[in-house]
Amino acid sequence: MKYVGSKARISRHILPIIQGAIDRNGIETYVEPFVGGGNLIDKVHCQNRIGYDNNEYLIGFWQALQTGWNPGTVPMSKELYTQIKDYKELFRPEVVALAGFCATYNAKWFGGYAGTVKTKTGEIRNYYDEAVRNVLKQIPALADVVFQAKSYDEINLSGCLVYCDPPYEGTTKYIGSFNHSRYWEWVRKMSENNIVICSEYAAPDDFICIWEMERTTTLDKASRIKAIERLFVRRGSGGGGFAIYIIRIRPRYGLEYRGRRKANVTC
Ligand SMILES: C[S@@+](CC[C@H](N)C(=O)[O-])C[C@H]1O[C@@H](n2cnc3c(N)ncnc32)[C@H](O)[C@@H]1O
Repeated sequence: MKYVGSKARISRHILPIIQGAIDRNGIETYVEPFVGGGNLIDKVHCQNRIGYDNNEYLIGFWQALQTGWNPGTVPMSKELYTQIKDYKELFRPEVVALAGFCATYNAKWFGGYAGTVKTKTGEIRNYYDEAVRNVLKQIPALADVVFQAKSYDEINLSGCLVYCDPPYEGTTKYIGSFNHSRYWEWVRKMSENNIVICSEYAAPDDFICIWEMERTTTLDKASRIKAIERLFVRRGSGGGGFAIYIIRIRPRYGLEYRGRRKANVTC
């Protein structure tokens, strides 16, 4: 699903790290507290997969799709989009999410109606239809994921591989505000009894970077910035340990190997 902060473009790099940690440590439950567009959880293999998010419309959307709801039955005109945006309480959660994510520019939550547009090359594109088709393609890979509407700080876990992809500090906001120091405090606590791997550009000093890669992100219609995507784990968390390659990838120059470090993280 097209989503703000989606990990679809870097999934082929970070998936082997996450899947490797699951397999080597015999993890039975994989958890994403910030599941969003489900663009990583749909590729992870684990006995149990749980996706949480505090956007209850989004969770209702995934649950409805899992039970066979067809978004193609909603005639998403600009008028309907505007009504849904203004009177969310009158519509089912999945219909609100359909408008909020699929009928909007760059999947930004009610960020402006994006229906059919003529591109610079003269091609006619229907962004809404494309977004719906993308979501429907994703559903088989999410069939057995348990989706729940919860804030990360209401979740208590043990013995799991937890992949955190929160709103990044200083980037586009989702619904509500996000307290980053409270989040890192929660990660510290969760790292005592789980393997916790976090995506962010930067982390507090007691976390180590286990992977990094430069990528270009789109801020809005006009501006693009370069940023370094990173994965972090809490230094010295857990007991035994799994080995992780620390790598830096420069898109134009290929992969630059920077050595190997024992992350010392286990359940
Ligand atoms: C960067 S996105 C996740 C993107 C996802 N990994 C993907 O590839 O599609 C961050 C998500 O965190 C959710 N979120 C924000 N605050 C939250 C909270 N307190 N608890 C749980 N989820 C939250 C947002 O709704 C959003 O879906």
